[in-house]
This record gives sequence, structure tokens and C-alpha cells, in this order.
Amino acid sequence: MELEVPGARIRSWRAGDQSSLARHADSRRVWLNVRDHFPHPYTVAHADAWLERIVGAEPQTQFAIEVEGEAAGGIGLMLQEDVARYSAELGYWLGEAHWGRGLMTQVVRRFTDYVFASLELQRIFALVFEWNPGSRRVLEKAGYTFEGRLRHAVVKDGHILDQFVYAAIRADVVAPPQ
Ligand SMILES: CC(C)(COP(=O)(O)OP(=O)(O)OC[C@H]1O[C@@H](n2cnc3c(N)ncnc32)[C@H](O)[C@@H]1OP(=O)(O)O)[C@@H](O)C(=O)NCCC(=O)NCCS
Repeated sequence: MELEVPGARIRSWRAGDQSSLARHADSRRVWLNVRDHFPHPYTVAHADAWLERIVGAEPQTQFAIEVEGEAAGGIGLMLQEDVARYSAELGYWLGEAHWGRGLMTQVVRRFTDYVFASLELQRIFALVFEWNPGSRRVLEKAGYTFEGRLRHAVVKDGHILDQFVYAAIRADVVAPPQ
């Protein structure tokens, strides 16, 4: 899989991404905004373990964000189950070196279009910690709708935090047949 946006490419992870992944992912500012299973500090061994698990896995739900020729971030889906099986949670991160250039907004917009075109999903949602206005802004700019606030939903770095729910549904982005 390969999708182009100006300044970045969304593509499958490769075994050779190990060192750039470890370098860009080793960031406290990234870690503070993602789940605790994202390691910190992020070592080459962590990158190896991630790539071992992800490269070639089916269905393919996790992708690298390539910037300036190297993997500098990730975007992926967590497919939901049972009655929520037409729904998926979106997650993403970008190495700090590339923040503030509009890259993630374009990546999220392009990836969302790709997902609705290629999978039978009705809903893609994202959960943002209350201290992360940048990610809220990304989702708003990418066409996601703010749906609500989950009070005291998570603990991160010892702090109890609210989470903001954003979602795109198929009907928002895919025009009905004429
Ligand atoms: C959130 C993240 C993906 C943003 O990536 P990015 O490429 O810098 O995003 P963009 O440049 O496309 O857009 C960021 C927007 O947030 C705004 N923003 C950034 N920090 C902000 C802040 N503290 N307060 C308000 N707005 C802020 C920027 O100004 C920009 O909006 P604008 O274009 O209207 O000016 C990146 O910072 C990141 O990886 N963070 C750590 C991991 C993470 O948060 N993942 C998402 C978990 S839900």
C-alpha cells in the first residue's frame, strides 16, 4: 500500500525502518499523547519487536508515515468487534522533527478516504487526551466531528484525564449514489 500527500507518503512498514522508527518514536512528547503500550524510551529493540509483529501481518492495519525518505511516524486502525465491527479506532503519531507543517492533517484526511474506499467500515473514531489541542485540530481540519467528552476516562503519566471523541462516518465522506 502506498498513498502520497504533499511532503509525505503513507506506506506499509518495512524491516529496514528499524533505525528511523526508533529515532523518531523515542520522544516523551509523543509518548505523553498515546497509549502506554507505546514504549518510552523507545529503543531499537522496541522497533524490531514492532516490525516483527507488523510486517506482513494480515489484515494490514498499521502503516508508516514516510517523510524525507524515512519512516518518521505511524498511522493505523484498531478494528472493533461484535456489534461494533463496522467501527475502527484511528491512531497516529509523527516524529517531533516534522510537527507543525500540516503533514498529519493531510495524512489523516487521505488515510480516512482510503479506509472508507477499501474497507466495509461505517465509522472511524479517535480519542484525544484533553491536553492535546494539536491532535484535536488535526481531526477537525481533516473533517472529523467532535462527539463528546469522556470525563476522567484515562490515566497518563500519573494524571487522570478526560478524552475527546472525534469521528468520521461513511455518510459524511462518501456521497450517496445519484
Ligand atoms: C498531534 C500531531 C499528530 C500533529 O501533527 P502535525 O503534523 O504537527 O499536525 P498539523 O501540522 O497537520 O496540524 C496541527 C494543528 O494543531 C495546532 N496546534 C498545535 N499545537 C497546538 C496547541 N498547543 N494549541 C492549539 N493548537 C495547536 C497547529 O497550529 C495546527 O493547526 P493550524 O494548521 O490550524 O495552525 C503530532 O503533534 C504528534 O504526533 N503528537 C504526538 C502523538 C499524538 O498526539 N498522536 C495523536 C493521539 S490522538
